[in-house]
This record gives sequence, structure tokens and C-alpha cells, in this order.
Amino acid sequence: MKIFHNKADLKKEIAFLKAQKKTVGFVPTMGSLHKGHLSLIHLAKEQCDTVLCSIFINPTQFNDQKDYNLYPRHEENDIKLLKNENCDLLYLPLVDDIYPDGVQKKTYPLNNLGNVLEGAFRKGHFDGVIEVVKRLFDIVEPDRAYFGLKDFQQLAVVRWMVDYFGLNIEIIGGPIIRNNNGLALSSRNERLNSEQLKSALKLSKGLFYIKDNYKTETFKTLRQNVLNDLEKDPLIRIEYLELADSSNLQPIKDYSQAASPGVFLAAKVGEIRLIDNIILF
Ligand code: PAJ
Repeated sequence: MKIFHNKADLKKEIAFLKAQKKTVGFVPTMGSLHKGHLSLIHLAKEQCDTVLCSIFINPTQFNDQKDYNLYPRHEENDIKLLKNENCDLLYLPLVDDIYPDGVQKKTYPLNNLGNVLEGAFRKGHFDGVIEVVKRLFDIVEPDRAYFGLKDFQQLAVVRWMVDYFGLNIEIIGGPIIRNNNGLALSSRNERLNSEQLKSALKLSKGLFYIKDNYKTETFKTLRQNVLNDLEKDPLIRIEYLELADSSNLQPIKDYSQAASPGVFLAAKVGEIRLIDNIILF
């Protein structure tokens, strides 16, 4: 695997590959890689001639400075995991390489997509995601880019962005990878202690419960049952548990109001903020 620390070298490599008509698949990450990330590398390897992963903890998408400072960093192990997955290229930039004119972000007209769920609870977060993904896309110019359904709204935002800037990049979503107990893998999970981990498991259990029962019960009833259970746990603070149309993330009241409704959840377990979702049909 070739490792690049600056965009000039990476661009040269990409130009060389493109001259040979090789397709480039791109998997942007913030590192501390787990099987969720690696599943995207695997998918990209199946569909593209060359796969590039980036690891960059993007300062503009953190609305909480403490979360940024405490974000796990495991560069050496990440490199090992990527090599195991036969990833071809790794881009590991410093902040200056991505933000040569200083760390800054614009505001993008996401409108309704930006006002709900994560957009409502993490002000400016998606502006930061767009800022960095656009900068990365401009450097890499991939044929395809891969994002996990775990961050369902982020995937929708990236699709919006590609349309907004008229980019010729195919955006591909990969399924949520969970551990044996159902917990969605996340780099932040490693910050959970054993008590918090037990509490965190209740989040995905709640989503599975809704999926198992939506055919016979209203969302209102199921939501209340889940909240009653989660609110008993002093380590859990729910931010939202909402039913939404998965095509645009807008809230709905009944399953019948969307062709494909999903349930979206964010909660803090101790200090650690986790998100998860499940598509009902
Ligand atoms: P990060 O949280 O590192 O995630 C990188 C990619 O891995 C994202 O597309 C995310 O949805 C996917 N992913 C994470 N956990 C997953 C899981 N359990 N199953 C499947 N996919 C999973 O998301 C970001 O980084 C950043 O916002 C980024 C897009 C890199 C921009 O900075």
C-alpha cells in the first residue's frame, strides 16, 4: 500500500492511474478503523481497479471541541488493517494540506435535509462534512465514493452535495456493520467503559424491537415503550428517536407516509454520543 501525506504527490499518482484508464474507488474516514470501515474498502475493491482510503480527523465537522480532542487515533494499527484488506493507497494528510488557508467552512443550502435529526442536534456539522468531502473529492476525483448507512443522513448529504456541485462521482452506500450483540460499530465505542457498553447495547435493541413489531403496533406506542425502557437507565440520555422518510429524512407520523420509513436514533451514553438507525421496509 502506498501512503501519501500531501495532496501534490497523491494527485500525481491518481493522474498516472487515470492515464491507464483505472477506476478509482474512494473511502474517506477519520481512522480508528473497524469492520464497518473495512467493509467499505472491501466493497470498493470489488467494484474498482484501485482503492484509496483517507484518514483525516476533520476539525470543521466537530461541534464539540472536547469530542475532537478525544477522538481516538490509531494510525499504526489502521495501516495494518488497510494492508490486510489490500487497500492500494492511503492518504494521511495534516490539517494544512486540506485547509492551506486556515480551518474554515462555508454554509451550504441544505435546507430541510440540514434541519432535521443530526442537522438539528449538531449545528454546522454537515457544513463541515461537506467542506471536507468536497475538498477530498477535488483532490482525489474518484469514480466512486463509499459511505456507510450507519451515518444515514451523512450519505444523503453527500448525495445532495454531488448534485449541488454537479460532480461526476457515483456515491455508494454500504450496510451497517454491527457486533454480535447488535451494537453498530463506531470508532467512538472504544471510549465506552464496560457499564456504558451494556447501556449502549440497549439502543440497537430498541431499534430491533421497533422493526420486529411495526406491523402490529403504531410508531407512537413502540417509541414510547422504547423510551420508557431507555429512560430507566441513568447512563443514557436520548437526543432523538424519530420515524422519518428515508428518501429525504423528513419526519413522518405513520409508516404509511413513506415508501421506505426508517427509525433514527441519537443518544449520549455517559459523555459519548452514539447514533444508529434501522430501515423498516
Ligand atoms: P468515520 O466516522 O470514520 O466513518 C467513515 C465511513 O465509515 C463513513 O461513511 C461511515 O458511515 C462508515 N461507517 C462507520 N461505522 C460504520 C458501520 N458500523 N457500518 C458501516 N459503515 C460504517 O463519517 C466519517 O468518518 C466522516 O464524517 C467523513 C465522511 C470521513 C468526513 O470527515
